[in-house]
Amino acid sequence: MAGAPDMMRGDEAFMRRCLELAVRGAGTVSPNPMVGSVVVHEGRVIGEGWHERYGGPHAEVNAIASVREPELLPASTLYVNLEPCSHFGKTPPCSDLIVSTKIPRVVVGCVDPHEKVAGRGITRLREAGVDVSVGILGEESERINEAFMTSHRKGRPFVMLKIAQTLDGRIATSLGASKWITGEESRLEVHRLRSRFDAVLTSSSTAVFDDAELTVRHCEGRQPLRVLLDRQLRVPLESKLFGPEARTLVFASADATEPARVAMLGSRGVEVVTVPSPSGRMSLQGVLAELHRRRVLSVMVEAGSSLAAAFVRERLADKLCLFVAPRLFGGDGLPSLASLDVLLPGQSVNLRFSGTRMAGMDLMIEAYFD
Ligand SMILES: NC(=O)c1ccc[n+]([C@@H]2O[C@H](COP(=O)([O-])OP(=O)(O)OC[C@H]3O[C@@H](n4cnc5c(N)ncnc54)[C@H](OP(=O)(O)O)[C@@H]3O)[C@@H](O)[C@H]2O)c1
Repeated sequence: MAGAPDMMRGDEAFMRRCLELAVRGAGTVSPNPMVGSVVVHEGRVIGEGWHERYGGPHAEVNAIASVREPELLPASTLYVNLEPCSHFGKTPPCSDLIVSTKIPRVVVGCVDPHEKVAGRGITRLREAGVDVSVGILGEESERINEAFMTSHRKGRPFVMLKIAQTLDGRIATSLGASKWITGEESRLEVHRLRSRFDAVLTSSSTAVFDDAELTVRHCEGRQPLRVLLDRQLRVPLESKLFGPEARTLVFASADATEPARVAMLGSRGVEVVTVPSPSGRMSLQGVLAELHRRRVLSVMVEAGSSLAAAFVRERLADKLCLFVAPRLFGGDGLPSLASLDVLLPGQSVNLRFSGTRMAGMDLMIEAYFD
């Protein structure tokens, strides 16, 4: 019989398979989480499944349905990267299904923070006599659903700042020109990233300077919602951002929204929402609260120095994704972040690196805010 370390290694290998299956739901399951599941009998995978689309059957349901020898279920282990649900949502509770199949052991990656689950799925299984192990590849399981976790724990979307900069930390020249700093491979990667986020967010200044479309074009994938912060509705109607390829939501200040302009945007399918803008600054918390209300789980910020720094200063950024090109603009270029009010080294904003890799000639760096 296998000892505890062997069993752990086996559990990790099957959980890794769950994570591989789970990411197949990227871009199609939000605002649901990405979940994969495998059913194992005596070390052999006899069933696999993943949550394929929002509102569709959960991973455990698909994994159990794929088992060709159901008589083996009462002697099998089910692996799943997120706690099985315990409530009636768009589908019946997965924990009840597992109990009904008489599967004796369930291995869970991490607990579901959803207020209707939050440990109840695990309790339901244990009460029915199922042996449940929790936390196998726990960190990785949390990480792949970081947007879902943030949304439920913080009541706002997961926010990633994407910055394309020179090696000396500049995002535009002194004239404001920023096309192109990074190479084709980095730009393709940005399109892939966009397709995995629910929304991409930019500012009025960057929309005017760059006239970017902010769509997914160079790869397959779903178009994220485009979010424009335009307090005074000054971005021209002809901007590419208002094109029909994707939906656009504009946040503006209540006192600056002329009905005629709102109507013109409306005729292009663009919705305008007003948020408080005390002392001439739009409330970023207000923006994120409204996006959360609309079930947007993740936002990629593609803005310039001032807005990116505002997200950092207000502690509303979770992750940084830097594309660093091997070129220099010098000190008169625009820095990637405006002031963070840091006067002493001990006041710095601290991050943890989570990955680096080459994107063509550029370096891609990912880091999490502490
Ligand atoms: N290389 C890159 O990755 C990259 C990406 C994007 C942009 N860029 C470049 O960056 C330059 C623009 O940068 P920028 O610093 O001038 O503009 P920005 O940061 O994109 O946007 C500034 C605007 O954001 C809003 N804003 C600023 N602070 C805010 C706060 N605390 N709370 C809420 N809203 C706030 C204001 O818009 P309202 O006045 O409407 O309130 C402000 O005018 C351009 O040259 C562009 O090409 C480079």
